Amino acid sequence: MKKIKIGAVGLGRLGRRHAENIAFRIPNAELAAVCSIVQEEVDTVKKEWGIPYGYSDFEEMLTNKELDAISICSSSTEHCRQISQALEAGFHVFSEKPLGIGMEEVQLAKQRVKAHQGQIFQLGFMRRFDPSYAYAKQKIDEGYIGKPIMIRCYGVDPISVIDGAIAFAEKSGGLFFDMAIHDFDLSRWLLDSEAKSVYAIGACFQYKEFAAYGDIDNGAAMIQYKNDAMGLFYAGRMCAHGYHIETEVIGTKGSLRIGTVPYKNLVTIANENGVTNECVGGFLERFESAYLNEMQNFVDCIIENRKPDVGVNDGVKSAEIAYAAAESFKAGKIVYLD
Ligand SMILES: NC(=O)c1ccc[n+]([C@@H]2O[C@H](COP(=O)([O-])OP(=O)(O)OC[C@H]3O[C@@H](n4cnc5c(N)ncnc54)[C@H](O)[C@@H]3O)[C@@H](O)[C@H]2O)c1
Repeated sequence: MKKIKIGAVGLGRLGRRHAENIAFRIPNAELAAVCSIVQEEVDTVKKEWGIPYGYSDFEEMLTNKELDAISICSSSTEHCRQISQALEAGFHVFSEKPLGIGMEEVQLAKQRVKAHQGQIFQLGFMRRFDPSYAYAKQKIDEGYIGKPIMIRCYGVDPISVIDGAIAFAEKSGGLFFDMAIHDFDLSRWLLDSEAKSVYAIGACFQYKEFAAYGDIDNGAAMIQYKNDAMGLFYAGRMCAHGYHIETEVIGTKGSLRIGTVPYKNLVTIANENGVTNECVGGFLERFESAYLNEMQNFVDCIIENRKPDVGVNDGVKSAEIAYAAAESFKAGKIVYLD
């Protein structure tokens, strides 16, 4: 069996998981190289997992001609440059969202991908590969709820990781761009339409630290789509009970919900505290299979020479909504997209 040799950049919270999936859970892939500016992360992974090559310099990794593809999970500020350099060096590229920070970078990344049409490019909107979201999409496409007319999305990170979110804030691009972008992508996918106008509000209700970066700790947005469908979004960083990702799609003949109660599993505990269900703890737990499925899809696309369903255009369109939301929040008025 031909194995696709992948070099993975970024070994932080999510990058390590992607690297682990490539190394141990994708039969037709091999983690041939890892890269991080934190030398200790490189040394640990290289030694513990027996990875042939380790780099602290991304450009040096790109000179390794044994590699077929690059998986990018560095800080968002690095994505645009690394996508461009990896494509230029002839590699297939998987990149975490977003394509870049600021619409200029996002458009530049799009140009670079378009200039390398012969190479596979996939963007990390992993929710599309989550079994429940994929099932919901299939049911919508099969007409189970009629024509979708509205979507409602909640995306709330656990308050237990608030210190990390504050530390990450400077390089994140803001609440709408960093977090709600997943829901904006889902809305385009599930409603099968692009956004027409956005109105967003929000504030630093508890963590004023975000204000230093023009960011907020809780925000909401209302969107109208080109097909007149409606969207309501809430994104926050202070979920007391765990990690809460919830989506509802209302159609002309019914509705469906995904993750309404973010149960950890099917276990209900009855004891002196009453009858309880635990909550899913974070993105690595909730989307465990989605991260694996998306990387498997990337590798399969390379082997079968077919374009991934989630590509650069999805990154651009979702970024446009996220930026319009941030602009609307700052200006206090509706922003119309082209
Ligand atoms: N799809 C999702 O659900 C999801 C979830 C979390 C994070 N993300 C995205 O993944 C990316 C990484 O997030 P994280 O939480 O793992 O970040 P992190 O800060 O934990 O890790 C970043 C990693 O990138 C490395 N790095 C940074 N700049 C580099 C450079 N120039 N060259 C080489 N290595 C470099 C760091 O050393 C570190 O290993 C972000 O862009 C984020 O938006 C996506």
